[in-house]
Amino acid sequence: MANALLQTHLPFPKRQGKVRDVYDLGDRLLIVSTDRISAFDWVMPNGIPDKGRILNQLSLFWFRTLGVEHHILDDALPPSLAALDPAGELQGRSVIARKAQVVPFECVIRGYLEGSGWRDYKKTGCVCGIPLPTGLRQCDRLEHPIFTPATKAETGHDENVSFEMMQSALGTDVAMELKERSVAIYQRGNEITRPRGIVIADTKLEWGWFEGRLILIDEVLTPDSSRFWPADRWQPGRAQPSFDKQFLREFLDQTGWDKNSPPPELPETIVSQTRERYLAAYEQITGSTLPK
Ligand SMILES: Nc1ncnc2c1ncn2[C@@H]1O[C@H](COP(=O)(O)OP(=O)(O)O)[C@@H](O)[C@H]1O
Ligand SMILES: [Mg+2]
Repeated sequence: MANALLQTHLPFPKRQGKVRDVYDLGDRLLIVSTDRISAFDWVMPNGIPDKGRILNQLSLFWFRTLGVEHHILDDALPPSLAALDPAGELQGRSVIARKAQVVPFECVIRGYLEGSGWRDYKKTGCVCGIPLPTGLRQCDRLEHPIFTPATKAETGHDENVSFEMMQSALGTDVAMELKERSVAIYQRGNEITRPRGIVIADTKLEWGWFEGRLILIDEVLTPDSSRFWPADRWQPGRAQPSFDKQFLREFLDQTGWDKNSPPPELPETIVSQTRERYLAAYEQITGSTLPK
């Protein structure tokens, strides 16, 4: 197993997200998915080897499969940039993307009741102000997927907002378009993964403006942006086994870390088991092994 790639250093202006290093090439972006992993809005001190390649290749699979206009221009480093990466560290984890004007909302779609949705429902009977039937259990399937947008906070927690708030910020037409297209992608995603044994419980999409149109940006239907559950083990009334970060969150929960100070180093077993889960999700969804 290769070492985790935590930092990249290329000679272009860089913006660093929790996971991605985004370089401004002038008229386009170079986006490198590193092996950093975050949980509870903190980036962990050590990474998950190959995670960035897995996320990038899975997003590319979805961009190709969904048939929705997206930001990818090139799925590999062009030769002029590959020359800056003699060790090949950036291979498989880099894309050239259209520079979009990011819509400042995360488009969250939930088909099942878990996480902050479940906590909200237990308290209020609603999820983000959307009333739901009484008596639902943790991880129950919702009759229709619901759209629960969140603001993209520059720092700290993203905050759930009502659809009305999104409408007043973006206008009704744009908000409606984002909602309908996001729900359609969630449903299409599930139609594809369900026969392959994976339930997508919920997901977060990002959109951007490009030449007056809304295009899909960032990452799509990955274990970082979604809850993936093994379909044959789904059983409402409890937490589900999962292919995503849930495993890491559970580990962190039982360490006693307060989530307000730098997180602890992850033990080797947590790193390798997290890596196995990400790889399994990739292989099960795409039906192929991760390209070398
Ligand atoms: N095509 C694009 N145009 C402009 N910004 C983009 C594009 N694709 C992704 N981004 C932005 O690049 C950043 C990717 O880094 P990431 O590590 O995912 O950030 P975050 O910590 O916000 O999740 C995000 O801020 C995302 O909104
Ligand atoms: Mg992101």
